[in-house]
Amino acid sequence: MSEANGKKATLKLNGKEIELPIYSGTLGPDVIDVKDVLASGHFTFDPGFMATASCESKITYIDGNAGILLHRGYPIDQLATKTDYLETCYLLLNGELPTAEQKKEFDSQVRNHTMVHDQVSRFFNGFRRDAHPMAIMVGVVGALSAFYHNNLDLDDVNHREITAIRLIAKVPTLAAWSYKYTVGQPFIYPRNDLDYAENFLHMMFATPADRDYKVNPILAKAMDRIFTLHADHEQNASTSTVRLAGSTGANPYACISAGIAALWGPAHGGANEAVLKMLDEIGSVENVAPFMEKVKTKEVKLMGFGHRVYKNFDPRAKVMKETCDEVLGALGINDPQLELAMELERIALSDEYFIKRNLYPNVDFYSGIILKAIGIPTSMFTVIFALARTIGWITHWLEMQSTPHKIGRPRQLYTGEKQRNIDR
Ligand code: SDX
Repeated sequence: MSEANGKKATLKLNGKEIELPIYSGTLGPDVIDVKDVLASGHFTFDPGFMATASCESKITYIDGNAGILLHRGYPIDQLATKTDYLETCYLLLNGELPTAEQKKEFDSQVRNHTMVHDQVSRFFNGFRRDAHPMAIMVGVVGALSAFYHNNLDLDDVNHREITAIRLIAKVPTLAAWSYKYTVGQPFIYPRNDLDYAENFLHMMFATPADRDYKVNPILAKAMDRIFTLHADHEQNASTSTVRLAGSTGANPYACISAGIAALWGPAHGGANEAVLKMLDEIGSVENVAPFMEKVKTKEVKLMGFGHRVYKNFDPRAKVMKETCDEVLGALGINDPQLELAMELERIALSDEYFIKRNLYPNVDFYSGIILKAIGIPTSMFTVIFALARTIGWITHWLEMQSTPHKIGRPRQLYTGEKQRNIDR
């Protein structure tokens, strides 16, 4: 962060002038440092953080108007098509893409931490079999904090780094088990001879009865690309949740569990599941027009559309749509829901209601159709998002832990009762 060559904003308040420093980043808008407003006896007010930069970060950059998403400077479409998910994980963690040697070492570290303590598997038994897998994930990922609290000195960079590896490696195991538990199948253990996405799909769909189960490489590649497309996204709601929890010095496994909880909402990561439910409800192209009328009267939202930051195409949605065509073509699947989704997109992009509000497909609009083609049940869509976003959450947690930071503690505009006494 640099002072914007001495630029300052002047706030005139009650006849006084308050000079507020302006800082410039590498890319994107300058920021106004408003902490001195407090001295005037005022708070700034920004519900939903529409215009608030909560921190300085070097990890991800988004230009919502231009539809640009960069991870450590690299565009998402290049990462999704020219690297695999673990390379993107390495990039996010370390700031540079790995050399062949570094990739081999990182891959080996992750492979050797995919197992979880056997007692973790017992936590699952407390859940009903029809529990939503996200409810299970919030519980079991948070429970990891009960297994890693002794040798966890947040000021020790080695402890922080092994925590990152443990979470990247163990979350897929717990995610697959959250599915297996709900379908009453035995847990399949991770295998060190399989690549990351292949290992996850193997744990999802192999069974003890089918000892020769092999993951279709087309599906493994599509799964890996979906992980990459969901890896990180700046200060979104769940990442901000992880940063806020982390700012208290809380156990990192508990912080990631908080991120999973925040992601679950249909306005955020839960949208991919909601898109498939919406497509099921619409049923066929003939029902699109009446559905759109319900959207315009605000009875329903067009799930998978709109974004706080993107006021243009979400670049991830573009790659997701291309992947959708590739995967369904390769598998010879003609999914009527894809036709329906494309018709929804076509109508929305030509309709003044959506154009005026800059509503475009976001990352969640097409992801569900690919996940369904891979065989992932709808209830697992947000778990897939949480699995992929773990690297983003951890990277932001590490960035915060390795730089001086204060506990996050916003204030409020109080409009409640004035002080009063109990008359009895
Ligand atoms: C993710 O932040 C991130 O980076 C998130 C994410 C990530 O990678 O971490 O990108 C992942 O969460 C993607 C978004 C997934 N959510 C959905 O698809 C749910 C549907 N979308 C909306 O709920 C909404 O668009 C949000 C929550 C995503 C954004 O909401 P904002 O920025 O607060 O915008 P808003 O609600 O103020 O909407 C502005 C206008 C309103 O209309 P008016 O009051 O001006 O008349 O647009 C309308 C809204 O009613 N609108 C929609 C709409 N989204 C916004 N109308 C119909 N359908 C929608 N989807």
